[in-house]
Amino acid sequence: MPRTPAIDIPAPAPLTALTLQQPCPTDATAMWRLVRDARDLDTNSPHFYRLWCRDFAATSVVARDKATLCGFVTGFTRPAQPDTLFMWQAAVAPRWQNIGLARHLLDALAADQYRFVECTVTPDNTASERCVRAFAHKRGAPVRRQPLFSADHFPVPGHAPEVLYRVGPLTR
Ligand SMILES: CC(C)(COP(=O)(O)OP(=O)(O)OC[C@H]1O[C@@H](n2cnc3c(N)ncnc32)[C@H](O)[C@@H]1OP(=O)(O)O)[C@@H](O)C(=O)NCCC(=O)NCCS
Repeated sequence: MPRTPAIDIPAPAPLTALTLQQPCPTDATAMWRLVRDARDLDTNSPHFYRLWCRDFAATSVVARDKATLCGFVTGFTRPAQPDTLFMWQAAVAPRWQNIGLARHLLDALAADQYRFVECTVTPDNTASERCVRAFAHKRGAPVRRQPLFSADHFPVPGHAPEVLYRVGPLTR
């Protein structure tokens, strides 16, 4: 399957060998495996990732080291709010963690086209929270937090509450 063109944004030093692109359906299995092997993430079905790569590629980004998937961010926009990117999942393979890849992926995805970036974070997910705050800090944008879903909104015992983070407005 042909791949989309590389997204050309300057990368921090440890990441210059990586290529950033919109995902294509053949990335779905590697994305699913990355999520399955991560702690702290809901593993959706393989079918979900395949559909996501078909239907939401334009609001998602993957990083590759040659043919190997190193990380991704999936996002979507709500039809009524096209200026807001909702970041659904971010995952980085262990070998590539803690060197700025999640931030770089989010920078590439948000680029200049959105005024707001949103995501939900569970209260125990420090890595995610720091990632969002680091993105906001770099863009000089405020972060607003508010409870979105409490534990009793979910049918699974012990599901953590989801807190909505809204970053923006982002200036160009
Ligand atoms: C969360 C995750 C995507 C971060 O990816 P990453 O490429 O390692 O993150 P970065 O190197 O870009 O770091 C971004 C910020 O998060 C912080 N961070 C990264 N991993 C962290 C950890 N395990 N604990 C605390 N902070 C962490 C970094 O210090 C950095 O903050 P800073 O700029 O204030 O120093 C990655 O750890 C991961 O895949 N985790 C498992 C899945 C997950 O929890 N995803 C998020 C929910 S959608």
